[in-house]
Amino acid sequence: MDCMFDFAPMEGITDYSLRETHSARFPGVDRYYSPFIAANQTRSFKTREKQDVAPEHNSGVVLVPQILTNHPEVFLWAAGQMLLRGWGTVNLNLGCPSATVVTHGKGAGFLSDPDRLDAFFERVFDGAEKGACGGPVRISVKTRIGVENTAEAASLLTVFSRYPLDELIVHPRLRKDFYQGVPDLDIFEMFYEDYRGRLTYNGDIRSPEDLRRILGRFPKLGRVMIGRGLIANPALVRELQGGPALTMHELQAFHDELLVRRVEALQGFHNASGKMKELWYYFGELFPDREKEIRKIKKARSLMEYRAAAAAFFGDARG
Ligand SMILES: Cc1cc2nc3c(=O)[nH]c(=O)nc-3n(C[C@H](O)[C@H](O)[C@H](O)COP(=O)(O)O)c2cc1C
Repeated sequence: MDCMFDFAPMEGITDYSLRETHSARFPGVDRYYSPFIAANQTRSFKTREKQDVAPEHNSGVVLVPQILTNHPEVFLWAAGQMLLRGWGTVNLNLGCPSATVVTHGKGAGFLSDPDRLDAFFERVFDGAEKGACGGPVRISVKTRIGVENTAEAASLLTVFSRYPLDELIVHPRLRKDFYQGVPDLDIFEMFYEDYRGRLTYNGDIRSPEDLRRILGRFPKLGRVMIGRGLIANPALVRELQGGPALTMHELQAFHDELLVRRVEALQGFHNASGKMKELWYYFGELFPDREKEIRKIKKARSLMEYRAAAAAFFGDARG
């Protein structure tokens, strides 16, 4: 299938351990996005953020770091920092719906003020052209279609259309939807018809049928981004490309390697436990009848208990 597949950024989930493990075991994803890095006036990243985008932690991965800010100078600084690490494309987060982010006018909150967004891009593209990032940087955007009302989308599209974005990724939900309801394909169609640059669709692709539906309606699209579907089923892109379905053995091997890597990266099970358990929320979708076993995994209090509960799940599931 003539389509590019990107792995969506997911805060708390798609860390470098997951990206490296995934790209080695399930080739086919074109690019991986980092969860957002909150850049601020102090012009310093947290240790965790620095580690996440370090080239040595992303081997085999084509990474697009994502930045969360509403400040043009800070964005330019952060983009320059990413370029220094070898990442030539930087993505701006205009989608995060969380209250703390939105009330500061960042993420999806930035969408409430198209004039300010326009001024931001003006300054960013002007600065980038004048060398503020220390070299040529491609700037892409990942956006929702508004804050409260889909009527907001048209003026956002006008703003995006004024600048040479490397790519515009649209998750056609409002901020107020969070992850509820269905993506608004009519609004996406407006972007599809009117946006002249590179456009990517994101939202609720979980099966070959979902992809067919999207590409059927938007045949010239050629680019999609997938998040939750790829966590629930790490082989989803292979399946979308006509390859074989995920086997239980593959899921176990992926899970077990990720566990080892995270325990090492986060210096112990105590720190890795929350992230590992969150995966099961997604894996669980594939196994609706295995609630009891999954509950046991989520209750594990030590690495030994966790391993035993996960092994029981995989062993039992394989029969
Ligand atoms: C737990 C979680 C964390 C997320 N973190 C980010 C993030 O850091 N940056 C971002 O742009 N989107 C983030 N998203 C949104 C996803 O990238 C994606 O846009 C959304 O889940 C819809 O795509 P999907 O249906 O394929 O998952 C997050 C979503 C979830 C569920």
